[in-house]
Amino acid sequence: MRKKLVVGNWKMHGNLNENKQLIDALVTDLTELKDAQFAVCVPFPYLYSMQGSLRETNISWGAQNLSQFDKGAYTGEVSANMLNDFGCKYVIIGHSERRSIFGETNQIVAEKYVAAQNAGLIPILCVGETLEQREAGLAEKIIDEQLSVVIELAGIDTFDKSVVAYEPVWAIGTGKTASPQQAQEVHAFIRKGMAEKNHKIAGELVILYGGSVKASNASELFAMTDIDGGLIGGASLVASEFASICRALNN
Ligand code: 13P
Repeated sequence: MRKKLVVGNWKMHGNLNENKQLIDALVTDLTELKDAQFAVCVPFPYLYSMQGSLRETNISWGAQNLSQFDKGAYTGEVSANMLNDFGCKYVIIGHSERRSIFGETNQIVAEKYVAAQNAGLIPILCVGETLEQREAGLAEKIIDEQLSVVIELAGIDTFDKSVVAYEPVWAIGTGKTASPQQAQEVHAFIRKGMAEKNHKIAGELVILYGGSVKASNASELFAMTDIDGGLIGGASLVASEFASICRALNN
């Protein structure tokens, strides 16, 4: 049985006060949920307080980015080992906002994936197509390229300790969710491609869906065979909403 996982991606939101309220509510709301795993990926400055608040709970924490370099003169960057100092389990890699706004190429994303894994962090590798690419019939080609560069650099065997997130760019923060069938099609495509390289790893690979997941649509998405959970943006900032999404997966 594949692990089931819901991850909140807070993006650049929050402050100490709001975070405390959100986390206190989540710790209470999620405490009884035993059948799935949960995590929040927060801005770097709040990792220390997550370590304090979440250590004894069933919620893990992680970061939203890291440097591809181990250490050195890289002003403003944060290394994988620094994330380890704060007890991170996960790190999001190659989110479409990093790719489109901060110019991360498939090669940089692959290097970051390797840096995370070398430090024992679980990368949540994001892939997904833009609307133009989908309309041009290029969705599978784009996703295949995004994955291939990582597989080539890191090796297929590393996917036994990573998570893939399919996030169609057109569904992120737009309120437009991929239909369960649309998402399932891509998830199945990803798993099939992996299976051609390593059947066992593909069968166990956790593939999350992300893009306007809400309490109201989570159950139908999670009911799909190849959707193992969600990567949640906006809805992860509202405790009751995020908790409902987590319950939808836990069932
Ligand atoms: P939304 O849930 O706000 O659409 O964001 C999805 C996302 O980008 C998660 O990484």
